[in-house]
Amino acid sequence: MKLLVTGGCGFIGSNFILHTLESHPDVSIINLDLLTYAGNLENLQDAEPYGERHRFVRGDIADRDLVRSLMSREPDAVVNFAAESHVDRSIMDSCSFITTNVVGTQVLLDACREFGIKRYVQISTDEVYGSLGPEGAFTEGHAVCPNSPYAASKAAADMLVRAYHKTHGMDVVITRCSNNYGPYQFPEKLIPLMISNALNDQELPVYGDGRNVRDWIHVLDHCRAVNLILRDGRSGEVYNIGGASEYTNIEIVKYILRRLDKPESLIRFVADRPGHDRRYAMDFSKLHSEMGWRPIVGFEEGLNQTISWYIEHDAWWQRIRSGEYREYYEKWYGQR
Ligand code: NAD
Ligand code: TYD
Repeated sequence: MKLLVTGGCGFIGSNFILHTLESHPDVSIINLDLLTYAGNLENLQDAEPYGERHRFVRGDIADRDLVRSLMSREPDAVVNFAAESHVDRSIMDSCSFITTNVVGTQVLLDACREFGIKRYVQISTDEVYGSLGPEGAFTEGHAVCPNSPYAASKAAADMLVRAYHKTHGMDVVITRCSNNYGPYQFPEKLIPLMISNALNDQELPVYGDGRNVRDWIHVLDHCRAVNLILRDGRSGEVYNIGGASEYTNIEIVKYILRRLDKPESLIRFVADRPGHDRRYAMDFSKLHSEMGWRPIVGFEEGLNQTISWYIEHDAWWQRIRSGEYREYYEKWYGQR
């Protein structure tokens, strides 16, 4: 199987590529990534032993000519992870969110259609559903009701994917997953930001009252689900993916501090995020009943491993914080 994976140098995409190379020996991957601030080729150093089974192409999913040239190599399927992914950045400026998340998706869909690509998988998010009250969970039938510009751009992309299925009969699947954590997550998101700030004895900024609830899933559980859905998901369907692990932000922050033996006085409550969703929770019974999937990494075990990973890979995130990681690509490129 030949896959075109987009956004493979980001957090989830790089974990997906490493997981797939290791667990699916029949798969080779072309990885199209623009290397925005969130893309880091260092995340894929462990892909080197797999040689030609992983090939990296630097470029934009919204670049029609480039995307068409890659589709002409006739991948069996496309898995689209590429996105602007950080809610706070979308509040500051949503332009790149529309270009990448919406126009980029449209360019990929058009090219898939033109070249008759057999399957298109759109990696979406629980955030398209909006916010929940204290009870219940999102099912796939829940109304799409996004509250941040990021979520709105992902919802728009989902609508396009659905429309290309209905109008053009394309074989597409949409996955909607809850909050991921694990190795290689960019240290602007809650868990890696709190771990790296605590390790540096810097303040931990908690938005609002800290009682917003997220459902956390280990990135490898997400990757396993995507691989199953890629092969066995029904065309035109949406599949929720969740971790069955709901925690308030403040619970997570306090846990990280305890684990690192750092004082709670590092916590700083700051102004709330505008439009801040209160609670997410996922009902993934459809994926469980159709494909037998369920998350296997317990949250405490996964979070402990993640904290250890950030301690052991201190150089990885320190290079991100200093901006040095941007030079990695130039070095890599220079050798080729
Ligand atoms: P990330 O920000 O870590 O990585 C995004 C990657 O996409 C980067 O490598 C970046 O260089 C690349 N990229 C951005 N714009 C591009 C463009 N125009 N062309 C090509 N590449 C481009 O994001 P992530 O956390 O790994 O998320 C991956 C996907 O999963 C996204 O679609 C996101 O919406 C979705 N998702 C994320 C989470 C989460 O908790 N992180 C949860 C559910 C769904
Ligand atoms: P984040 O990791 O940005 O993911 P998302 O917004 O996609 O859920 O944030 C997770 C939660 O943590 C969210 O409720 C916002 C909160 N948060 C903070 O309290 N402080 C921070 O510095 C960040 C980045 C997030």
